[in-house]
Amino acid sequence: MNENIMTYETVDLGDNDENVIIIDQTRLPGKVEMIHLRTAQEIWDAIYLLKVRGAPAIGVAAAFGIYVLARQIAEEETEFDGFYKKFKEQKDYLDSARPTAVNLAWALNRMDRVCRQAYEDGNDVQKILEILGKEAREIKQEDIRVCKAIGEYGLSLVKPGDGILTHCNAGQLATCKYGTATAPIYLGQERGYQFRVFADETRPLLQGARLTAYELHSAGVDVTLICDNMSGMVMKNGWVNAVFVGCDRVAANGDVANKIGTSVVAAVAKQYGIPFYVCAPTSTIDLDTPTGAEITIEQRREEEVTQMWYKERMAPEGVKVFNPAFDVTDHELITAIVTEHGIARAPFTETLSKCK
Ligand code: MRU
Repeated sequence: MNENIMTYETVDLGDNDENVIIIDQTRLPGKVEMIHLRTAQEIWDAIYLLKVRGAPAIGVAAAFGIYVLARQIAEEETEFDGFYKKFKEQKDYLDSARPTAVNLAWALNRMDRVCRQAYEDGNDVQKILEILGKEAREIKQEDIRVCKAIGEYGLSLVKPGDGILTHCNAGQLATCKYGTATAPIYLGQERGYQFRVFADETRPLLQGARLTAYELHSAGVDVTLICDNMSGMVMKNGWVNAVFVGCDRVAANGDVANKIGTSVVAAVAKQYGIPFYVCAPTSTIDLDTPTGAEITIEQRREEEVTQMWYKERMAPEGVKVFNPAFDVTDHELITAIVTEHGIARAPFTETLSKCK
């Protein structure tokens, strides 16, 4: 608990590119444990069980994951056809780990495209591996650059001393550095802005309490943890000047899927005239999905609501449970979508396609 979490890599490649190294986020904040993922099952489980989570971090883990698996496949398959058949199977398997964050499919499709292009360019399997490794590393470096750019644009929307509310964890732990929703906060911190941040605890998996409050506190940011049902009061009290949240998928019309509860925060912010900003790397914008209604929302296990985190079960046996991991915030509730290429405002159908 003494470690400064900000000095750790959320996702990395292990020695000799033989495995993917992640911080096991299910152990935070009690224990900082780095785990090594080598098999397809281990990588899939780590994504499904939220050991690595947050849309951009999932994308980077998947890119490193498919690269590590490609190296294993190449030990047996030296000809492209055999190699690619297994590569594709593993890619589809990793893609099935979680449905909502588009970055998972985005990163895997990008690796797939690079693989096929490398073959068409006349490279053999060994050279293709080299190219895949380079691409996976580039996806990680790009994530850092993108988050920083989002931070700069986001910072232009607030002023020193402002109160900022955030939901879930769209922080460094959800990316490779800076986070998305937290990027303006970290850049502001470096420049003496002295923000007052309110972090929603974010039931049922407590990403706000376990991760956002933890990383902001480690970084020396003035952060106050609140239960999800307190954000209305905090906003009504006039303590919040802006809401920044991350996202898992932005539809072409500007509807946004993000952690369950985000839409409630957006509605309350609108009620009190507080700007509601979504921070979205363009890799999260999915122009093939017309509106939020077409976004697949992940449903998760009942136990996350009834007993996880409690010493004993806190709900009657057999009670019906509804546990969607995400909700869709209607574009009418969103003041602006902050990307690495600029700030998009309504009408999003026009402005988002220009950002891409
Ligand atoms: O279920 P999680 O923890 O993966 O959900 C994460 C979120 O909803 C984040 O806000 C989103 O992925 C953006 S992370 C920069």
